Amino acid sequence: MRLPGLLCLAVLAASSFSEVQEEEITPDVSIAYKVLEVFPKGRRVLITCHALQVPPPITYSLCGTKNIKVAKKVVKTHKPASFSLNITLKSSPDLLTYFCRAASTSGAHVDSARLQMYWELWSKPVSELRANFALWDRGSGPRVEVSCQVSSGSPPITYSLVGKDGQVHLQQRPRPGEPANFSFLPSQTSDWFQCQAENNISVQHSALTLVPPGRDQKMQDCQGLWSAPSLPCCPTGAPTI
Ligand SMILES: *[C@@H]1O[C@H](CO)[C@@H](O)[C@H](O)[C@H]1NC(C)=O
Ligand SMILES: *[C@@H]1O[C@H](CO)[C@@H](O)[C@H](O)[C@H]1NC(C)=O
Ligand SMILES: *[C@@H]1O[C@H](CO)[C@@H](O)[C@H](O)[C@H]1NC(C)=O
Repeated sequence: MRLPGLLCLAVLAASSFSEVQEEEITPDVSIAYKVLEVFPKGRRVLITCHALQVPPPITYSLCGTKNIKVAKKVVKTHKPASFSLNITLKSSPDLLTYFCRAASTSGAHVDSARLQMYWELWSKPVSELRANFALWDRGSGPRVEVSCQVSSGSPPITYSLVGKDGQVHLQQRPRPGEPANFSFLPSQTSDWFQCQAENNISVQHSALTLVPPGRDQKMQDCQGLWSAPSLPCCPTGAPTI
């Protein structure tokens, strides 16, 4: 989105910081939006600004982050002003903050609250959860290391290591796109674990996996990956310490 580099603040700074606020406008300006069209990599949204108590004609400015003026409209009645915008999903979330400024002919103005469109536009269910269970001995005894990652999902995912009884043992919220890594000491008795990936839209679980993989196997000699409870702890050819 190429925007003219007009600064709302620069234009109106003088009036907003004057000591005596003549004809002070206290009423609210409302800001709302709806998604008009969904494209693979973008959305067309309609942003509506409405200042009920400002005397018309009202100059509505739609401002983005850093107070960059995106669009302007003069409305001669008490009707709201609407702006249609094309938003690309490449934009970083903070580029999607908008507010409206309604100014009367006297130059007095009032701003709406900030509209943050990030979650609603970016929301994606958790998909393709992959979990790797591994037993490593890095010299200080064996540890179980579990790495969990999804291919996509937004808002950011909270990963949990969950027991068969549903109990959450460990939890992590890595930065978007990064895997979660859990590490713990294997217990004497095998137990079933699974990885859970959840955002506030959806949740996924990996297969229940036996940890440690089997009591007959020589754990202390074991180093490798296993992904299903039936696989031996040390697959043939796996390196050992
Ligand atoms: C918005 O973007 C879509 C797809 O990228 C395009 O087809 C459409 O013409 C654009 N609309 C405007 C108003 O720029
Ligand atoms: C998990 O490990 C991977 C690979 O070492 C790393 O890129 C990632 O940042 C780690 N995740 C966390 C939450 O530390
Ligand atoms: C998800 O969480 C975000 C931030 O807390 C919130 O704005 C959004 O409305 C939530 N979405 C759903 C579907 O609950």
